[in-house]
Amino acid sequence: MKILVTGGTGYIGSHTCVELLDAGYEIVVIDNFSNSQPDVLDKIKMITRKDFKFYKGDVCDKEILQMIFKENKIDAVVHFAGFKAVGESVIKPLMYYRNNIDSTLSLLEVMNEYNCKKIVFSSSATVYGKPDKLPIKENFSLKTTNPYGATKLMIEDILRDLYISDNDWSIAILRYFNPIGAHASGLIGENPNDIPNNLMPYIVKVATKELECLNIFGDDYDTLDGTGVRDYIHVVDLSKGHIKAIEKVIKDKGVDAYNLGTGRGYSVLELVNTFMKVNNVKINYKIVGRRPGDIDACYADPSYAKEKLGWSASLGIEQMCKDAYNFIKKIEEM
Ligand code: WQD
Repeated sequence: MKILVTGGTGYIGSHTCVELLDAGYEIVVIDNFSNSQPDVLDKIKMITRKDFKFYKGDVCDKEILQMIFKENKIDAVVHFAGFKAVGESVIKPLMYYRNNIDSTLSLLEVMNEYNCKKIVFSSSATVYGKPDKLPIKENFSLKTTNPYGATKLMIEDILRDLYISDNDWSIAILRYFNPIGAHASGLIGENPNDIPNNLMPYIVKVATKELECLNIFGDDYDTLDGTGVRDYIHVVDLSKGHIKAIEKVIKDKGVDAYNLGTGRGYSVLELVNTFMKVNNVKINYKIVGRRPGDIDACYADPSYAKEKLGWSASLGIEQMCKDAYNFIKKIEEM
């Protein structure tokens, strides 16, 4: 089985490439390094001791996609490529709509041309907006509060319409909650090039003193300690969910969405305190005002993914904190 992985050198993409290779799949990767580094390719090969083909390019470019499908018999696609920063999407909506929608349309058109109709799509819990109740189930209403989330929801709708037009398609939509952590080897992980938007990469940069102090955005939310609650999931658990989703689209036709979360919410302060405890490191922080657009709490009901994909998360918050720090320490050693 040969799987095309778009955005395969990104944070979740690279971890999924490792799991696919370890599970015995052949992979082909396309990436334009807009949010990743070329050396991730070597790291994936070091971890798995396996080789694979790589194409440098933009998924919007149908010519390179046609070349990939002409040169390789692709059985299924895992589609990660896309911009993913909520704040940036508010400032640059046209860039987000153009890139995320255009690339997906190009990919689906070329897949159709080559009769490859099995796809796993990287969606996000952000499509639920502010949930009416918790935990979140897949049949909850979908509404978004920013252009990034809107692109994810639009692509989900495109995939649902595609299946209605042609029941030969096999489509798994994976709604990620909050992926954090890194591969146990410490060779791959999350290392944004600029000031991190997300909580864990910011904590890690404060731990390594690259950044001085963590700003905690609000402690007046309707949660146990007033800070925001999220469903943090180890990126390796998340990546293993993609293997189960690939097995599903290889086996069954249809389109369906699955929550990939742990079902357990942790507050910002709980995460910070856990990180300090397990890594024996001090994190300077101060409470500041709320970040516009943030919601009080968000965590998954993961039972549908368990029932339909036979998948559930197994790694806990302490392991997520250990692995996140271990990755950055390894980078500093290099
Ligand atoms: C988590 C909590 C913040 C940074 C976003 C996207 C989502 C997905 C994951 C792509 C919140 C608080 C954060 C900081 C803080 N991305 N926080 N100080 O916003 O839940 O989800 O990233 O798929 O689609 O929406 O993640 O890590 O930014 O925030 O206090 O410096 O940490 O208020 O409560 P979020 P996050």
